Amino acid sequence: MRREFPKGFLWGASTASHQVEGGTKNQWSDWEVSPERIADLERRGLFKEHGRENFISGTAADHYRRYPEDFALAKELGHTATRISLEWSRIEPEEGVFDEEEIRHYRDVIDSIRGYGIEPFVTLWHWTMPRWFYARGGFGDRRNIRFFSRFAAKMAAALPEVRFWITINEPEIYTQNSYMQGLWPPQEKNWIKGWLVFQALAAAHRAAYHAIKAVRSDAQIGVSKNNIYFEAYRDQWWDVLMKKTFDWLWNFHFLNAIRREQDFIGLNHYFHGRIKNWRPNQNENVRMSDLDWELSPDAIYHVLMDLRRYHAPIYITENGLADAEDRHRPWFIKETLKAVHRAIQDGADVRGYLHWALMDNFEWAHGFWPRFGLVEIDYATQERRPRPSAEYYKKIIEANAIDDDE
Ligand code: BGC
Repeated sequence: MRREFPKGFLWGASTASHQVEGGTKNQWSDWEVSPERIADLERRGLFKEHGRENFISGTAADHYRRYPEDFALAKELGHTATRISLEWSRIEPEEGVFDEEEIRHYRDVIDSIRGYGIEPFVTLWHWTMPRWFYARGGFGDRRNIRFFSRFAAKMAAALPEVRFWITINEPEIYTQNSYMQGLWPPQEKNWIKGWLVFQALAAAHRAAYHAIKAVRSDAQIGVSKNNIYFEAYRDQWWDVLMKKTFDWLWNFHFLNAIRREQDFIGLNHYFHGRIKNWRPNQNENVRMSDLDWELSPDAIYHVLMDLRRYHAPIYITENGLADAEDRHRPWFIKETLKAVHRAIQDGADVRGYLHWALMDNFEWAHGFWPRFGLVEIDYATQERRPRPSAEYYKKIIEANAIDDDE
């Protein structure tokens, strides 16, 4: 069977500044070398397991310098869209002081992308922030929202070639890891604070939305929202009730809070949780990624169908897996896209798919070892090598269709 995607469907992959650029100086790079972080990694024996350099973003994939080569490769791999993020700490290293050279750098990046006929999706905030903003309390202090919307307006004016803007990446993952579970800087473990930060991020999105529209009324603006397919493990009222609660808290609350301020929904999708005994569990007997995340490509169907309620176009802005050997990735891409196709047939307005990630990158607290790239990076030489899955994905893109028997 041949499943055709709608005409003009966008295909590509995503990255984020801190994970690929190299040389970033922000709250994350500071945290990576902080005595507490180092002591913690030592205590858990993780330096022994992965080496010290694994945990320091350093030069990463050197994308800051090698972007022309990377977009040339994206073009060669058939991509028609790409998602990047701007590193705010480069652009506004001191409060109110904008670095014109860095702005020019990102203008060149966009020109390079456009030069290949690729559509850029630009994220304003993918979790890393300038040191001064962090020192002021980041999004933990609502008075700081004005700094973010000023930055957003400035970028929208400086990069007129960008049509698709993503204000915030995964507000729920950020607040959970940084404010509730204490895993990421500032490592707070305060559920109330986390909830307030979550609300502040919704307010920051709304402020940035209006700030961008004021300078670029034709901009298309959304967030990248990590939505999970929650399923009741048993058909029992408490599992069903918990599923609905998780749906509301994790999947819908944020989107409801910004529903009047979004031109499209950016969906990041990775997880499928079955609710058993009040909490989401992994399913049994399934394929796993290198990070031991369950690979459940069908789950995206349900997530997409649930998003129909917003009556907005949907772009999948992330979806992928850590798979160094590329053992599961071709299968995963194929099965995911079959599920996406089925959702489109059933009325979900999906207009593009961006795989995470274009290339291997710095996977936050895990460091470099998880390999999410369509393109493998040899960090010793910075050589780029497309994995077989990248070639397989290219065939799908060129056909704008999946063939079951391939
Ligand atoms: C994030 C990416 C991350 C990916 C894989 C998403 O949560 O936006 O930055 O690398 O998932 O974990």
